[in-house]
Amino acid sequence: MMLFLDTAELDVIAARADSGLVDGVTTNPSLIAKAGADIKERIADICGVIPGPISAEVVATDSSGMIAEGQTLAAIAENVVVKLPLTMDGLKACRALTDDGIATNVTLCFSLNQALLAAKAGATFVSPFIGRLDDIGQDGLELIEDIRALYDEHGFVTRILAASIRSVDHVEGSAMAGADACTLPPNIFDALVQHDLTDTGLAAFLKDWKAAGQGAI
Ligand code: G3P
Repeated sequence: MMLFLDTAELDVIAARADSGLVDGVTTNPSLIAKAGADIKERIADICGVIPGPISAEVVATDSSGMIAEGQTLAAIAENVVVKLPLTMDGLKACRALTDDGIATNVTLCFSLNQALLAAKAGATFVSPFIGRLDDIGQDGLELIEDIRALYDEHGFVTRILAASIRSVDHVEGSAMAGADACTLPPNIFDALVQHDLTDTGLAAFLKDWKAAGQGAI
C-alpha cells in the first residue's frame, strides 16, 4: 500500500523524504492556502522532492474551467495528479483529462455510487474521506471495504486512496480494507513507527550490551 503525506508544507515533506517511505503527496486548496504558497510554485517544489504522485487540486467549478486548470497543473511536472471534486462537472473533466493521458484523483468521495462514477470516468485515484464520514456517525472504513469489493467485482482499475485520516487505526484499517494508498497528516505518519515495547526493548538490549563491555560492531 502506498503512503502519501497530506500536506503542502515543503519543509515537512522534505524532512520525511529520506525515510524512503513517502510514495507521494496530496494537497487541497485548504492546505495550499494554509501554507500561504503560490500553488504552481509549491507543487513544482514538492514534485522536486518526491518523485511519486503529487495531487494538485483545481478550484474552477465548471468542467471547462477544471480542464483548463488541470492542464496547467499537469504541465508543472510529470508526476502531477490533477485532483477534481466529485461533482458531475468534476467527472466530465476527469474523463477529458484521462483521455488526454493526465493522471487524476477524484476527491470528496462519500458514497459507493460516487466511487462507481469516479471509476467509470477513468479516475486514476478516488479519495474516500474516512474521517469526515466518521464525524457524521457513519463508518468510513466500511466505505473503503465496499469500494474494494465493487472495484474487484467489476474489474475497475481506479486506485482507492483513503483520505481524511485522523488516527493510526485509520491507517491499518484502510490497509486491511483494501485501500491502495492512504494519505496521512504528518503527525500520523510520524506516529506509525511508535510502540512503547519497541523503545523499552531497544533500551534493554543496549543496556545488556554495554554491561557486557561490548562496543560498536
Ligand atoms: O486531503 C483531503 C483530506 O485528507 C482532508 O482531510 O482532515 O480535512 O477531513 P480532513
